[in-house]
Amino acid sequence: MAEPSLTVRRKSRSGSVRKRSRAPVQPSAVCSPVARKRPSSGGEGLPAETPCSNDSEEDMFGDYDSFYGNDSLLAQVDDVEHKYLQDKNTDIKAAGEIILGNLQSGIHQKKQDYFSASENMVVLKADKEDAFQTNENDPVDSNQELTESILDDLPSSQLLYFEKMDKLSSDSRISPVSERRNKCVNSSSDKIRSLSPFCPDAEHGNRPTDFSSDSKCDLFKTESLKDHLKSAMTGNAKAQTLQVSKTKQLKEAVLSEEICVARKTIESSSVDIGPFYGLPSKVKDLFRQFRGIETLYEWQHDCLMLESLQQRKNLIYSLPTSGGKTLVAEIIILQELLCRQKDVLMILPYVAIVQEKVRGLSSFGIELGFLVEEYAGSKGRFPPIKRRIKKSLYIATIEKGHALVNSLIETERIDDLGLVVVDELHMLGEGSRGATLEITLAKILYTSKNTQIIGMSATLNNVGDLQKFLQAEYYTNNFRPVELKEYVKIRDTIYAVDDKTENGYTFSHLLNFKYSSNLEKADPDHIIALVTEVIPKYSCLIFCPTKKNCENVASMVCKYLKKEFRAHREKEKQDLIKNLKNIGNGSVCPVLKQTIPFGVAYHHSGLTNDERKSIEEAYSTGVLCLLACTATLAAGVNLPARRVILRAPYVANDVLKKNQYKQMIGRAGRAGIDSAGESILIVQEKDKHLVQDLVNSPLENCYSNLLLELTKGMQSLLLSLVGLKIAVTCEEVDNFMCNTLLGVQQQLLSKEKSLSEIIRDGLENLIEKGLLKGRISEKDQDSKCILTITLLGKATYKGSIDLAYCNLLYRELKKGLEGLILESNLHLLYLATPYDMTSNCSPDWMIYLRQNVDSAVVNRLYLSFVLYTLLKETNIWSVSEKFNMSRGYVQNLLNSAASFASCVLHFCEELEEFWVYKALLTELTKQLTYCVKTELIPLMEVAGVLEARAKQLYNAGYKTLAHLANANPETLVKMIEHLSRRQAKQIVSSAKMLLSEKAEALQEEVEELLKVPTNIPGTY
Ligand SMILES: Nc1ncnc2c1ncn2[C@@H]1O[C@H](COP(=O)(O)OP(=O)(O)OP(=O)(O)O)[C@@H](O)[C@H]1O
Ligand SMILES: [Mg+2]
Repeated sequence: MAEPSLTVRRKSRSGSVRKRSRAPVQPSAVCSPVARKRPSSGGEGLPAETPCSNDSEEDMFGDYDSFYGNDSLLAQVDDVEHKYLQDKNTDIKAAGEIILGNLQSGIHQKKQDYFSASENMVVLKADKEDAFQTNENDPVDSNQELTESILDDLPSSQLLYFEKMDKLSSDSRISPVSERRNKCVNSSSDKIRSLSPFCPDAEHGNRPTDFSSDSKCDLFKTESLKDHLKSAMTGNAKAQTLQVSKTKQLKEAVLSEEICVARKTIESSSVDIGPFYGLPSKVKDLFRQFRGIETLYEWQHDCLMLESLQQRKNLIYSLPTSGGKTLVAEIIILQELLCRQKDVLMILPYVAIVQEKVRGLSSFGIELGFLVEEYAGSKGRFPPIKRRIKKSLYIATIEKGHALVNSLIETERIDDLGLVVVDELHMLGEGSRGATLEITLAKILYTSKNTQIIGMSATLNNVGDLQKFLQAEYYTNNFRPVELKEYVKIRDTIYAVDDKTENGYTFSHLLNFKYSSNLEKADPDHIIALVTEVIPKYSCLIFCPTKKNCENVASMVCKYLKKEFRAHREKEKQDLIKNLKNIGNGSVCPVLKQTIPFGVAYHHSGLTNDERKSIEEAYSTGVLCLLACTATLAAGVNLPARRVILRAPYVANDVLKKNQYKQMIGRAGRAGIDSAGESILIVQEKDKHLVQDLVNSPLENCYSNLLLELTKGMQSLLLSLVGLKIAVTCEEVDNFMCNTLLGVQQQLLSKEKSLSEIIRDGLENLIEKGLLKGRISEKDQDSKCILTITLLGKATYKGSIDLAYCNLLYRELKKGLEGLILESNLHLLYLATPYDMTSNCSPDWMIYLRQNVDSAVVNRLYLSFVLYTLLKETNIWSVSEKFNMSRGYVQNLLNSAASFASCVLHFCEELEEFWVYKALLTELTKQLTYCVKTELIPLMEVAGVLEARAKQLYNAGYKTLAHLANANPETLVKMIEHLSRRQAKQIVSSAKMLLSEKAEALQEEVEELLKVPTNIPGTY
């Protein structure tokens, strides 16, 4: 089952779908026939896009120029494709014929190479304005040196970022207390003292949550010794070094002593006397060192002191975006790992966020002695290795979290999991991913009474239902460290959002900006006026409804920006373009090439992972000051802005939901980076009523998706309940289902049938499909009849295979045994190509479509050609050009295929007849996961090291994991271009973590091998 890399899949619930009336498509934006098709909903969590994804989303605001107007580029694409089809791929064709013949006997195959790449895009040439200057120079050609200091030129919104970096590098200095400190807990120490029996500091008049204040518990360490130890630790921690310094030993002794005290305290009573919420004082040092966090917010302290948390009750907490929810969860996680000595699972919504978190927490793991294990894409071991000493923090996507929980239940190790933390809990209501999350949590609740569940979100409404489902307490607070001012723009007027008024807003001011008639035509929504009020000094995000619109808005803005914008951090922008060129093996997207010199870029799922990372990094360091992005960014990584502009109250063709609106505007004014934040929603006169809905309506409710997503929801749950022996009779299944979110909402969601009837229907269906065995009827005696799982059923749930495809997959693998073509890996790739991506694939391959051929098979084969070429060439850019697909789509196909290949592998492991696939698919999964030259694979295993970075490291002599784990971050910064100190430290920490994880695993294996069995015959 594929996981999304960084996409938001928002499925409108029937009844609540509000469709926009489509704006007339401008004649200037003519799309290809493929582009006109609206993409159907993607596979699980995959972006809903066609292979030609840039084309697929017509620009609903199609007034702006697009690089599609570049005829020479299109001609080039045509040439390459033509050449590709005629000369290079005879081997693909031949292999394809054999496979298709194998799969579709009797089909007469005729080939006609047909691609229709050319489109008829008209370039809008707006007149140049006096006030602005059109600029077409190639930025890379002009090689002007940056004469001023970078920091002098830094937007003040991002100065704080660099201060933080500084702090990280110096390790010792405590930065001045910020002005927000007034809001923090130290301003109300009396209140906290009375609240806090847990912090002995409080009794002595110290602020318990003030990281910079001395603590009684720290007395045995002097500050200078601490500094000394810290730097020694940072250099040595846990890497495979032969020399163990005395300082390191001393520091470790101190730490283990503190952990020991904390653990004993937790064991002996419910009263926590640890120096920092029951944790060693080192933890607060680490938060200061790695995150620059000096004090906890008052609500964070209150929340951590909740009676319910002390009693280890389940908890849901909800605060506005940027409220600082993560820190609370992280402290609770550390308590569980260090004090209670239990493993922890943290579930995050997207692969990119999992990787970011793994990088961020690896350094904590190294310093505090726990393991951080990544469960995303094809990474993660099932069941996880049972560690002898160290505890593990599993950081997982929703799908991998589910598979992990299944494996722990199956091996009767679920009790090892002390805590499960779910970020973005509202995802429960989002399609099949929501169903998977619900299934995971329901299984934990049912099988392990001691596993605590913590869920958090900024956008919850029907909390009562969720509390009932999770048997959880609830904490909420309106705190937001940085005030967020919400505005709406209609024509030339800016209104302040005001939920007390009937229409949702009140007059604020008029937009003070002179537009000539030509500029008015090019930028009717006054985007340029809105952005130039903030950039380049501050950062700005523009959320656009479609990917194409992002690119067009970025281009349009740059056409009319003054040339002074180019001078701002010019050298770094040139470096960024060079970096993108390296990443693209010599190619840079023409739009980015045009916009980056102005500090502007677009950001959507059409970028490759490497490109996305470079752009995000450049934006967070202030090199780029404006991103035109899709909704994916709102749910993705933490990219802040002084001003957030919403281009329209739509996401694709759907009206913006309140949840989405809140998530998007929540990017404005992030703590620690900006001191203020504002959002502006651009609304057309005709859409004024939508503002009222957005402002006055409550957040959307979270509903169970078990019934809506039948094969991935209800049926898959029933199958695994029997397979894992969680519930094996109808009666037991009934009991289980009562405790799901569906059970809580059944009267609302299923009016026609009772839950019991739905369950029986589902079980019967599984028996019909050959996945379960047993008898189902309404009669009482049958409700106790034991159900068993078939081999195919077990393979299906263990491989996390969608029930809609399990029989087909079995047949195809079986057919493969008759004549698997191993001349190349194309046949294998076909078997590992995700089924759910085929519906979005439109091969430009008319001859096949004219035959009476199953289009799903053709599409899958077509996609496997793409993958085949990718593995051969390891270059996403050239492959996307050859197949006329956007590079983001190709990247997504590759990620999904890696994930699906590992699912098929687990499927085959359960079926003896498929033993041969085990070896083949293990290797294929690895190839798909990394899709790079073999020598780069060990480096890319490190979280966050993508291909471009791996190449740089390899060329600089860092060729193995051990090289990276033992590298000096300062040397890395000097040797590797475009690598910040923070990134270097994270790479080294992640490599150390991975190395120690691997070493531990081998040690465990050795111990296991050498263990003397207790039941040797004749010895007892
Ligand atoms: N006590 C604190 N002092 C200073 N900064 C803090 C504190 N707590 C959190 N932060 C910072 O605030 C920023 C936002 O925090 P966080 O990401 O936890 O927000 P969130 O509540 O999860 O928001 P969202 O709902 O958007 O994910 C982070 O950069 C974090 O480091
Ligand atoms: Mg968060």
